[in-house]
Amino acid sequence: MTGKRKAAVVALTGGLLVGLGIQLIPADRRNPAVVREIAWDAPRTGELARRACYDCHSNETVWPWYSSIAPASWLIAKDVDEGREHLNFSEWDGPNEGLDEVIDMVESGEMPLSRYVVLHRNAALTEPEKTELIRGLRETFAADPPAHDAHGESEAGFIEGSPALHGLFANLRPVTR
Ligand code: HEC
Repeated sequence: MTGKRKAAVVALTGGLLVGLGIQLIPADRRNPAVVREIAWDAPRTGELARRACYDCHSNETVWPWYSSIAPASWLIAKDVDEGREHLNFSEWDGPNEGLDEVIDMVESGEMPLSRYVVLHRNAALTEPEKTELIRGLRETFAADPPAHDAHGESEAGFIEGSPALHGLFANLRPVTR
């Protein structure tokens, strides 16, 4: 073998071994139990959300075959994990984004993520479908609002959430002379 050939074989073998080796690092592809699903105002709203959002914003993710192959598995699991953290229609009793944020994402077309839609054409929403989903989201959130905001950073929330601070602030009295 010439030197160049040898180098190519070594590089290919190395790449193959790395490709196989990373398969040993699994991604977390669990679907936890549906704790408390949001109460959709109408079946149609739930249907649209299921189509466009549920793979990343629920505990009912449909994991495609390529989601078991690294490194795709890591990227997909990360999207699902982060998506669920912000908004999880299966854990409506937990922290979730508010209506404005959700509508904003649909209206702007930021969600569903374009890298997802490329492989899930069915998740793409037409303009009339967006309008339908937004109307349904308004109705749904009005009747069944999220327990609290995913960011939960309002001052009151922060103080209420910390017993020590809550005690401190409860003891503050207006200074009278
Ligand atoms: C492929 C996965 C995926 C799909 C499908 C998806 N999202 Fe997301 N979503 C994410 C990820 C990841 C984040 C967190 C990172 C970010 O903001 O980009 C997120 C964040 C959000 C946030 C919080 C944004 C913020 O900046 O605080 C909202 C609201 C949201 N998504 C709504 C939706 C809605 C509504 C749909 C369906 C129309 C949807 N998403 C579809 C992955 C997804």
